[in-house]
Amino acid sequence: MSTLKDNELIRINNLKVSFPLEEGTVRALRGVDLSIKKNRVIGVVGESGCGKSITSRSILRILPESGQIDEGEILFRSKETNSIIDIAKLDLKDPYLRKIRGGEISMIFQEPMNSFSAYHTIGNQIMEVVLEHQDVSKDVAREMTIEMLHKVGIPNASTRIDQYAHEYSGGMRQRAMIAMALICHPALLIADEPTTSLDVTIQAQVLTLMKDLQEEFDSSIMFITHNLGVIAQIADEVAIMYLGHVVERGTVKDIFHYPKHPYTENLLKAIPKIGKTKGQRLDAIEGMVPGSFEIVHGCPFHARCEKMIAGKCEQMVPREISIDDEHRVSCFLYE
Ligand SMILES: Nc1ncnc2c1ncn2[C@@H]1O[C@H](COP(=O)(O)OP(=O)(O)OP(=O)(O)O)[C@@H](O)[C@H]1O
Ligand SMILES: [Mg+2]
Repeated sequence: MSTLKDNELIRINNLKVSFPLEEGTVRALRGVDLSIKKNRVIGVVGESGCGKSITSRSILRILPESGQIDEGEILFRSKETNSIIDIAKLDLKDPYLRKIRGGEISMIFQEPMNSFSAYHTIGNQIMEVVLEHQDVSKDVAREMTIEMLHKVGIPNASTRIDQYAHEYSGGMRQRAMIAMALICHPALLIADEPTTSLDVTIQAQVLTLMKDLQEEFDSSIMFITHNLGVIAQIADEVAIMYLGHVVERGTVKDIFHYPKHPYTENLLKAIPKIGKTKGQRLDAIEGMVPGSFEIVHGCPFHARCEKMIAGKCEQMVPREISIDDEHRVSCFLYE
């Protein structure tokens, strides 16, 4: 079994996930390679359906019911067990999974309204997370919750703690969601399009807040988004996904200034002024993404690629090549 480098928190190797359905098999992840470093923010970008959410859900083993991991490793450096664990191989009933969810790894979803129950106060729901993962009394859990709500900018946290989700505004719910996700100081926070439902001003505030807390708690964040402007604001590194693969990864500078993969180049061309864009979505690229049931031979991008090398790109899957220590690309142009 492979191991982790000193600065790595998680490494995903050749992860394959599929959904065997009556109509055929959906190949959601076709061999994802991804590394998340300690205390870093990695942005994951790609068009709709490329596998961003399925990758993040695989890490927590909360795939939709029909989804299955067919192959690959998700190596995680666990504080709880003080060892490196392959999450992909854990049994779904393994009690350790409960421990990592919300404890060592937590997740914020796109729509915070659905993430809080309507029947319990915000405070009770956050306290429940504390009590599940930490050996503290109810009073202490309540104090911790008030402090955390205060930290994420909820005014009058000591009264607001007893309110319900519908009594919070959208921006406040998202802040409360962040409080719940971070209250146990997880090593990894997964944020799946956490700001798309917020207006631009609130979005900027929430991003700043997440970045500040990430630094304060020495956490890592896997930040999923369609928005390259957001990546430029929050991330240290970027992974570009296409059709169930990570096709290029590197630092923000590598990806924005020295993109190698033709798909990355296209994404960047589709957005004229990187860093100055707000709310741009990645939908301006030529051609169609192949259907989920299709078996694609060769490079996943070859059918849309202007630089396709005939006789090669449609026949073989390119290996990942290191441009330097951090910058990697899967493309025959660089072999
Ligand atoms: N419950 C499911 N049943 C069958 N296929 C699914 C299911 N959930 C996801 N998929 C498929 O898995 C692939 C990856 O989906 P995923 O949700 O990870 O995309 P995404 O990159 O998060 O897209 P978006 O930007 O739209 O959120 C897609 O082909 C999708 O159709
Ligand atoms: Mg998604």
